[in-house]
Amino acid sequence: MSVMDYDEVYRSSRPPWQIGGPQPALVPVLEDEVRGPRVLDAGCGQGDLAIELARRGFEVTGFDISAVAIDQARAKAAAAGVSITFGVQDATRLSLPAASFNSIFDSGLLHSLHRIGPDQVDAYLAQLPVVAAPGGALFIVAVSVEAGEGWGITEDFLREAFGPPWWTDTTVEPVRVTAMPEGESPLSLHAHLLRTVRT
Ligand SMILES: C[S@@+](CC[C@H](N)C(=O)[O-])C[C@H]1O[C@@H](n2cnc3c(N)ncnc32)[C@H](O)[C@@H]1O
Repeated sequence: MSVMDYDEVYRSSRPPWQIGGPQPALVPVLEDEVRGPRVLDAGCGQGDLAIELARRGFEVTGFDISAVAIDQARAKAAAAGVSITFGVQDATRLSLPAASFNSIFDSGLLHSLHRIGPDQVDAYLAQLPVVAAPGGALFIVAVSVEAGEGWGITEDFLREAFGPPWWTDTTVEPVRVTAMPEGESPLSLHAHLLRTVRT
């Protein structure tokens, strides 16, 4: 699969994953399960999840490979009156302080890298235990292989990727991801919600 030009996507249209707020599957996590104070939103896009986390009082950092998305996220955060550290970064070679985040969210990043190939996935998976604080929580929402259309993430893959020695208490729950392609009816895609804890 070719690498998507995310800048072009964010510049020219409303991307289908831009649904005006965090993915509904994350609501129970946001209500009860976020560990603070420092929270990372990986592949934050236009920042709706990061903004919701900041509204809830967390110290939020968000990064995305798209400079256009980060500009849009900064504008949205300013309009919402919250302070968030946003930066342009590639998830496969992060420059973030080690062992620093008490919660990490990935809403749609891992599944995007999975469509590109195993090298991207492996490089990203190697970064996560570095930036997670010991005892920190990781939450991933990823469209699953059951959604068809070239999506490939399975429960077995997630359980293998998030096991010892770096991760413990891993659970994988079936959920739905909402997508809203422009000019079409909203889609509800089969997905996984992974919860795990850095050892
Ligand atoms: C499906 S979108 C999800 C955006 C946002 N998290 C949300 O839930 O609306 C995937 C995001 O990952 C970003 N992305 C893709 N590859 C990346 C990489 N290597 N490093 C950082 N961000 C990346 C894209 O720019 C895009 O914003």
